[in-house]
Amino acid sequence: MRATGWQLLTLLPWLQHGLAQDDTVTYTDKASGIVFNTWPNTYMTFGMALPSNALTADATEFTGIITCSSPTQGTGWCGISMGGGMNSNLLLLAYPQQGQILTSFRWATDYKPPTVYTGDAKLTQISSTINSTHYSLIFRCQNCLKWKQGQESGDAPTSEGYLVLGWCHATTSPTNGACPNSLSVRQHGNQGIFPARFNSAVANRAYTSWASKATATVAGGCGGSRVPAPTATTAKAPSPTTAKAPSPTTAKSPSPTTAKSPSPTTAKSPSPTTAKSPSPTSSCAKSYTVKSGDYCYLIATNNGITLDQLKSYNPGLNCDPLQIGAVVCVRRS
Ligand SMILES: *[C@@H]1O[C@H](CO)[C@@H](O)[C@H](O)[C@H]1NC(C)=O
Repeated sequence: MRATGWQLLTLLPWLQHGLAQDDTVTYTDKASGIVFNTWPNTYMTFGMALPSNALTADATEFTGIITCSSPTQGTGWCGISMGGGMNSNLLLLAYPQQGQILTSFRWATDYKPPTVYTGDAKLTQISSTINSTHYSLIFRCQNCLKWKQGQESGDAPTSEGYLVLGWCHATTSPTNGACPNSLSVRQHGNQGIFPARFNSAVANRAYTSWASKATATVAGGCGGSRVPAPTATTAKAPSPTTAKAPSPTTAKSPSPTTAKSPSPTTAKSPSPTTAKSPSPTSSCAKSYTVKSGDYCYLIATNNGITLDQLKSYNPGLNCDPLQIGAVVCVRRS
């Protein structure tokens, strides 16, 4: 699969400048010795190292680096779309959480907020760092260059010499980030699509030994059923104005002055409704009975509230698993 119409539209500025322009940066990680092709932008850098024959036969895996700026240490999230656009492609999210970097494979369509990807992609970590300006993860991603969810599938064929990738970056942390499978993110502070062109350094005979360094499965502190206590006062409402179309201007040629300041207006902007957190004495103005296929984020979204609000309206609500038939409050009086 290749770029769809609007993706090509987004690529136009680069095509006009000519794909010969060299925006691929070869980077060697000192600690591991892994040599990456990287494609930096103002907000984040993504890079890949590929198996030695990946430029002639499509690879099924890669070793990646994702380094994202984080104006407040340990916050934010960032992600890569393996197929360019955010919809119907394998998405990989990474975010700092209590000193670790957690990841989640996601899938988005026009019709639904990103859900957990159910294919066989597997991520194991090689190293991660979090400092006062960035968080960075080096990892192995197996079965990440071909994807399938329901009726939809796609791939990122390395033998073509380039991939069309997408990126997104936000400065606010995911809601419920301790549980990578039930976190929710909705707004992207900034995003874009870029051609990730390979140079000869991308495919390396040392790949197998690099990949074998990936031994850590970092799953987060969520036991699978624990839901963190509601944090009503800090609810972060997704900005309803979040643009869908990536702005080509944010993706490239950062002016040095913008390098450190992801626009606060796109990154935050809590909706006015988050200001009133329910008083403990307020009563439920609207309830909803959980049915098969529901999940907390979906119920919240369908009722115009955030996941944090849903949880604050329903102290002790267990989202994982959510009980079919449970009655939850979706609006407070
Ligand atoms: C923080 O991490 C980033 C990305 O790994 C790195 O480029 C930067 O030099 C680090 N800053 C400090 C102060 O160590």
